[in-house]
Amino acid sequence: MKLFLDTAEYDEIKAGVEWGVIDGVTTNPTLIAKAGQDHETQVKRICGLIGNVSAECVSEKRDDMIVEGRRIAAWHKNVIVKVPLTPDGLGAAKILAGEGIRINVTLCFSVNQALLAAAVGAYIVSPFAGRLDDINEDGMRVVADIVSAYRQQEIKTKVLAASIRNPMHVTQAALAGADIGTMPFAVLKMLFNHPLTEAGQKKFLEDYRKTQEARPAAPAGKPVTPEAATKR
Ligand code: G3P
Repeated sequence: MKLFLDTAEYDEIKAGVEWGVIDGVTTNPTLIAKAGQDHETQVKRICGLIGNVSAECVSEKRDDMIVEGRRIAAWHKNVIVKVPLTPDGLGAAKILAGEGIRINVTLCFSVNQALLAAAVGAYIVSPFAGRLDDINEDGMRVVADIVSAYRQQEIKTKVLAASIRNPMHVTQAALAGADIGTMPFAVLKMLFNHPLTEAGQKKFLEDYRKTQEARPAAPAGKPVTPEAATKR
């Protein structure tokens, strides 16, 4: 499962890229607003850091969304155009996908909706696991069912587990067979954490320092070679 960041914050994305662990970014109007930047400017900046950057259409009517989708796709080759899972959104997606534009169909909450997204040639479908959990449904069950239906039907659309809220969601999405999991920066940071890693690294460094303290002092003007040190 590829790991994406669900944020529009430049510094967070830069950190994830420098750690070498992320393959893309998902944004939405809420996240762009949080970053406090103009949509086009911020998406272009993010595309300068990484590929696979989802940027969302905000038009409501099919024809407007087609125009907007073309405009967003022209911002940068790394852009994936996001459309909502509505009749207008999917109508626009069909045309845009036919023009070779990569489409991420967002706000998916069921297997049937995911089948609709696949029918219009979406590159990605985004089931929102956390928001299903919020209404007392099993979000990761829906992700697993979409993966299973797509496999049985030999559908190529990628399943992106979205609305991930914690590290357990990440594990569950991977075990469910999701192609991509997108998560807030805080969750990505938590994936590194394990008490045994921290304790082990602390001990290795302490022991290394002890070997340095045990090194023989070099006679003035003469560096101690490793061979000389072992003879002593
Ligand atoms: O990837 C979709 C995401 O931005 C929604 O997450 O936590 O607002 O449900 P959330």
